[in-house]
Amino acid sequence: MSRASLLQQEMGLGPAWMARGGWFEQHPAQRLREQTQADDAESGMPDPALEPRSLIPAPQETASVAPPASNFSPPEQPQPAAEPLRAEVATESPLLDWPQLQRKVSDCQDCRLCETRTQTVFGRGNPQARWMLIGEAPGENEDRQGLPFVGRAGQLLDNMLSAAGLDREQDVYIANVLKCRPPGNRNPAPDEIAACNGYLLQQIRHIQPTLIVALGRFAAQTLLETESSIGRLRGKVHRYQGLPLVVSYHPAYLLRNQPDKAKAWQDLLLARKVFLQASS
Ligand code: URA
Repeated sequence: MSRASLLQQEMGLGPAWMARGGWFEQHPAQRLREQTQADDAESGMPDPALEPRSLIPAPQETASVAPPASNFSPPEQPQPAAEPLRAEVATESPLLDWPQLQRKVSDCQDCRLCETRTQTVFGRGNPQARWMLIGEAPGENEDRQGLPFVGRAGQLLDNMLSAAGLDREQDVYIANVLKCRPPGNRNPAPDEIAACNGYLLQQIRHIQPTLIVALGRFAAQTLLETESSIGRLRGKVHRYQGLPLVVSYHPAYLLRNQPDKAKAWQDLLLARKVFLQASS
């Protein structure tokens, strides 16, 4: 197969995004999972992956696995900032524990969206994951099911993650800037973002991801406090609360703009590179 067809196939322009196993077998979350399972088997304890992780950063681990031989050139790589990639997320308000935070979100009435939502959408995935993906706000399906990215955009996101060797339930945690659906899927209003911002910050403080991926213009602009276009924001390593942040297109946008899947794939490659650097 030609390099171009291979590239297209991998980017989802072909029949499917192909999962490539093994890239993240030495991922810290995977190692933690294996250790946890081994410990559980010995102690008969429930899975602590369901509990929030301590905010004390884990000792730096070395990603001993090299990326697999690839037919793809990495995207043009901007230089990540020289400062250390791991940093404590700022502590501005007392940290609620994970179940308290979940309860606070589900009871939230801090903005008008509580009047129109079916339910809040807190997040999904592994709270101990090293990757955190942040979208915009729940849509109709998410509002109905109480989980982020469960519609068509979510299916595309799952395929993309799988193509990058990431398991959506184990290797990533997915949340949105807003926890409630804006009626008619309109853009979130500034006061709604302000009301919700503390919840996202607390989620990040709990998870302490190695890497944040902002999905779409709205999440990127909100997190980075900028009005720059997504075209300008992607392809670079930014910082959010000291953590490396990579911007990519929103999966719903990619459903409408198939050719930009190629760029989204480049973004995933950049994210993987940043992740491996930050894990070493
Ligand atoms: N779009 C988002 O940004 N988040 C979701 O959860 C679903 C669609």
